[in-house]
Amino acid sequence: MKDLRPTLYKTADGSNTLYVKDLDQCYHSKHGAMQESQHIFIRHGLEFVLKKKQYPSILEIGLGTGLNCLLTFSKSLGISYTSIEKYPISLYLALEMGYCESDKEQLIYRQIHEAPWGEELNIDGNRLFKVQEDIIHCDVGINQYDIVYFDAFSPEAQSELWTEAIFLKMYNAMKVGGVLVTYCAKGVVKRTLKSVGFKLEHPPGPIGKREITRGVK
Ligand SMILES: C[S@@+](CC[C@H](N)C(=O)[O-])C[C@H]1O[C@@H](n2cnc3c(N)ncnc32)[C@H](O)[C@@H]1O
Repeated sequence: MKDLRPTLYKTADGSNTLYVKDLDQCYHSKHGAMQESQHIFIRHGLEFVLKKKQYPSILEIGLGTGLNCLLTFSKSLGISYTSIEKYPISLYLALEMGYCESDKEQLIYRQIHEAPWGEELNIDGNRLFKVQEDIIHCDVGINQYDIVYFDAFSPEAQSELWTEAIFLKMYNAMKVGGVLVTYCAKGVVKRTLKSVGFKLEHPPGPIGKREITRGVK
């Protein structure tokens, strides 16, 4: 049986992430957790969609530390954010991450982690719905989301989450014109995304990565 308990890990930009020894996986890039989240999910996901659409609805695969959620809520109001997480971290560990730069962010971050699972909560003008489930079995609905933050552990660690079945579930859950963003740009992942119908774009990656993947429905 694998031990999936994460421990704190300092990345190159000074921001913390979590490391799971038995999977040899970090929750973010070792080149910088903060710069990675900002670049991939905020700049090439949220900001890309906000140019065309106000108040987007977002589905995240893997709430983890809640960094993507915090950065999203700090950016915009009126967002509807659903996050699926199989292995939630403790509030104690979350508060060790040190992601917040102001008292307001600290309050939002705390609310993200204290929000009850399976219930909608309004946090500073945004709506959060956290689901504690395995994405393999979770029903994520049809035609609901403008953006998917696909932030699972890597295909090397969790090949079962980078399959045609999961990507088809994401595709069906998205609205037409919606985008899925992920840090992964592996050939096999790109081919699988294409096979379920995504049109792919490859924005430049954050530090340490040549390109990332954005799939448009
Ligand atoms: C790369 S980390 C995500 C980082 C997160 N977005 C953040 O900002 O900290 C991957 C996350 O997926 C979660 N996860 C792993 N397997 C899962 C599954 N089958 N269903 C849902 N979540 C899963 C992990 O617990 C972890 O929190």
